[in-house]
Amino acid sequence: MSTDTHAPFDKKPESPRGNGELIRLEQVTKRFGNHTVLDHLDFSVDAGKHVTLIGPSGSGKTTILRLLMTLLKPDEGTITVDGEQLFPAPEKQVREVRKKIGMVFQQFNLFPNMTVLRNITEAPVTVLGMSKDAAEERARELLEMVGLTDHVDKHPAQLSGGQQQRVAIARALAMRPQVLLLDEVTSALDPELVAGVLDVLRDIARSTDITMLCVTHEMNFARDISDQVLMFDQGRIIEAGAPEKIFSEPEHDRTREFLSAVL
Ligand SMILES: Nc1ncnc2c1ncn2[C@@H]1O[C@H](COP(=O)(O)OP(=O)(O)OP(=O)(O)O)[C@@H](O)[C@H]1O
Ligand SMILES: [Mg+2]
Repeated sequence: MSTDTHAPFDKKPESPRGNGELIRLEQVTKRFGNHTVLDHLDFSVDAGKHVTLIGPSGSGKTTILRLLMTLLKPDEGTITVDGEQLFPAPEKQVREVRKKIGMVFQQFNLFPNMTVLRNITEAPVTVLGMSKDAAEERARELLEMVGLTDHVDKHPAQLSGGQQQRVAIARALAMRPQVLLLDEVTSALDPELVAGVLDVLRDIARSTDITMLCVTHEMNFARDISDQVLMFDQGRIIEAGAPEKIFSEPEHDRTREFLSAVL
């Protein structure tokens, strides 16, 4: 891994990707009232891999990402990130493990009262204790990477949806997470803005060693970037495999039915 603290993100190491497990869910169950949304779910993601979750609305995809962000707690099971337990775990450990994970949401969720630059520097300064200068330098590098150098001093309301989402991506990367969670990050965008955001994500997937767990309805994008696709239905993985396999020769009727509806 790069030791250059000025690099906008950690470059891919010389060795091939995938040196060990980074995320593991074991027997994870999540209920809302008497509705079981995830039912003894097991899966793992290796470091550096790009895994895409697909499946019908309500199948539990967002719930998985929210559990990893610790916005929700499982009712049963364990979640491990980089060998350390995220659930169950004492609060202090949760805070530490949680720093390894960044998330980009469908609705951007930028701080409306802060400039673009401050949106990106805020957490590195307050959570990681970075100096303001170092955080700003890094923020500018990230803004260059997402093509927003000219918008540093604007507020979110002065940007298009696509620009706001690219700020949100830069903001997540500013924390140098090991895992980036992406939940339908282009779904709220006007069609002509989608490609720009997907290009940024393709670039990150290609040029960094960050692990990605991605929920998307953009099947061409999923096919391009994924090492593995997991098909969910009713809180269970019904089919998993390489994108060529899932998209071209799905085994389950449910997968075929879903794909014919979204492709
Ligand atoms: N806070 C909550 N309270 C009650 N039920 C919830 C809550 N959050 C999610 N659910 C329910 O859990 C199920 C799974 O929701 P989830 O958001 O994970 O689905 P999803 O696969 O992301 O769907 P979509 O593709 O529509 O985003 C749904 O039936 C949903 O109604
Ligand atoms: Mg969802």
